[in-house]
Amino acid sequence: MHQNMMEDIDHILLSKEELQAKVAEIGAQISKDYQGKNLLLLSVLRGSFIFMADLARAITVPLSVDFMSASSYGSSTKTSGAVKITKDIDIDIEGKDVIVVEDILDSGLTLSFLMGLLKAKKPASLHLCALLDKPERRKAEVNLTYKGFTVPDEFVVGYGLDYDEKYRNLPFIGVLKPEVYSK
Ligand code: PRP
Repeated sequence: MHQNMMEDIDHILLSKEELQAKVAEIGAQISKDYQGKNLLLLSVLRGSFIFMADLARAITVPLSVDFMSASSYGSSTKTSGAVKITKDIDIDIEGKDVIVVEDILDSGLTLSFLMGLLKAKKPASLHLCALLDKPERRKAEVNLTYKGFTVPDEFVVGYGLDYDEKYRNLPFIGVLKPEVYSK
């Protein structure tokens, strides 16, 4: 990894401006849809932290926020969809209008598990908002209500998304040079 992260980026997929415009658009749509509701934005850490922060500020209706974290039980179970909750929600979501905020919907295994878990807590409504959607990788069906961009099956980093916990602070979404992860 270079000290200048730009040297590890093959090309920019979504610029800062494109991201900003899309976040504003989704924020406006949510503001319209959640008039008079009891909105709770629930961010699934860590990848969604930057999108969450920008999206919350693009929404004009009152809302509360909460955070949770989940990890799959190693690579073999990524296919089975077994998910461990490493940080649970703190707010009682019963009767709340919950939007789960994610950076990327990939295989759908984590999200289909999480959505099922949350649904059992009896929210008034439950929807998913993901900035990126990689449909080519889907293994489990998940309803995506608010979608930013469909992306190809490439190694994307930045705007919250990592490779080996790095690159999350890039202000755009870029494709990593293969030599970075094939070492
Ligand atoms: C990513 C992403 C979702 C999940 C989606 O998180 O933020 O939570 O994977 O994958 P799926 O659709 O295949 O289930 P990751 O496990 O990389 O953790 P991170 O958010 O801490 O980077």
